Amino acid sequence: MSRKFSKEPIRGMDDYYPSDLREVNWIIETIRDITERYGYEEYATPQIEPVEIFAAKSSDELVNEQSFIIEKKEGERLILIPELTPSLARMVAKKSQELKKPIRWFSVPTCFRYERPQRGRRRAFFQPNVDILGEESLYADLEIFNIIIDIFTEFGATAEQFQIYYNSRRFMDSISNFILKLDISKIPLVYKALDKSDKMDEEEFEKYLIDIFEDEVIIQGIFKLKDAKSVDELLRKFDNIPEEFYQSEGYLEITNFNRLLKEINLSNYCTFSSGTVRGLDYYTGIIYEVFDTGKENIRSIFGGGRYDDLLSIFSEEKITGTGFGMGVYTLSLFLNTYGLIPNDIKEKDYSDTIYIASINEDMSTYAFELARIIRDEDFPCIIDYRFKNLKNQLKRANDLGVIIVLIIGPEELTERTITIRNMVSEEQKAVDLDELIDEIYDIIDQFGNNKFEQ
Ligand code: HAM
Repeated sequence: MSRKFSKEPIRGMDDYYPSDLREVNWIIETIRDITERYGYEEYATPQIEPVEIFAAKSSDELVNEQSFIIEKKEGERLILIPELTPSLARMVAKKSQELKKPIRWFSVPTCFRYERPQRGRRRAFFQPNVDILGEESLYADLEIFNIIIDIFTEFGATAEQFQIYYNSRRFMDSISNFILKLDISKIPLVYKALDKSDKMDEEEFEKYLIDIFEDEVIIQGIFKLKDAKSVDELLRKFDNIPEEFYQSEGYLEITNFNRLLKEINLSNYCTFSSGTVRGLDYYTGIIYEVFDTGKENIRSIFGGGRYDDLLSIFSEEKITGTGFGMGVYTLSLFLNTYGLIPNDIKEKDYSDTIYIASINEDMSTYAFELARIIRDEDFPCIIDYRFKNLKNQLKRANDLGVIIVLIIGPEELTERTITIRNMVSEEQKAVDLDELIDEIYDIIDQFGNNKFEQ
């Protein structure tokens, strides 16, 4: 016997059977509808890019440890995109003169990360991205928060079940600069340390900080940045805050943003979190991550933030952007946890499908002719190609949940008629070809529109 190959996809990657993909598409369609309400347009990028554009400002860990790299020719290093933002920046930079600002764009790439497969993490995943570019004001960040909240509430989630944890890189810069008195070149190391802090216990974290910063005062300061849940709580941890800190861009940004969230009644869904700093290097302003507030799903569901300088790797023009990426997989785990996925979402609905059953194969041409008429009317139509044993054909139609079956035999073929069978009432009658569509609509009206909604 010849060797058989494994039926499994490679580790960390998934097959999506139609019923699985139906759930994925239901999630993506819901998000697409919401972004359209805000005036976003869809775009797409290649799934393979030059490594450099990710190496420049994403993160060393992402590129060097968590990416699939392809080297087809010597000196040419390509990457299977681990995220979308650098590609988006490249596309916007390329046509920045022609694109009308602000740019509101939406995309659903498959991203690839060489991570340990676990609950909430796969090696290939759908990651819808929503970004607004060319709008500097905090209103853009606010719009993104609004979209995130609309997505969750559209699925039926409540503020008790999810929270957007947010912070501002500018605010953390101001703290590092004015309060911790850190050299500006060391600030990215603070982000790196805080981003890693929840993966380490206290002792490991302290050792990690000692290795990098050496200075005890700074180390104690970084410890204080770890887990404050309001700006006041965070600032109370420090003595002698200089007056200039309160005039700094970062302090003003976070306090203004808090005020705006309150004014448009979003505060309930959002929690300031000093430990949220994000792992990607290009963020400069408001940053955010969405988590399940319960214990079941510990990985972030959404992550995003503002990037002011990312486009500078492609052009001299300065265009700021803010947005998020969300894992369809992480969102689906969250929705399943709270019972927010309708039971029938995984089953295809055949109730508006017209099924053609034929007494024998002589009817095949007539069956194709009928199917054309029906599909032109926008009804799905299936022809049973077994062309014998009517009972079995009706059974197959019934198993799918079909309501209307068209039966054709020698008589129907000669007289250009059709026997139309209502599978629910089990009534059937012969109709002329030119009455067929009206008869189909009659049966549909009898069952009400609900039964036939996609
Ligand atoms: P990120 O935080 O790296 O941000 O990823 C965003 C989301 O993608 C995560 O919150 C998670 O839901 C999902 N995700 C990440 N890795 C995996 C994985 N291995 N398996 C399943 N889902 C995963 C970014 O990628 C930024 N580019 C987002 C962004 C857009 N920032 C601005 N615009």
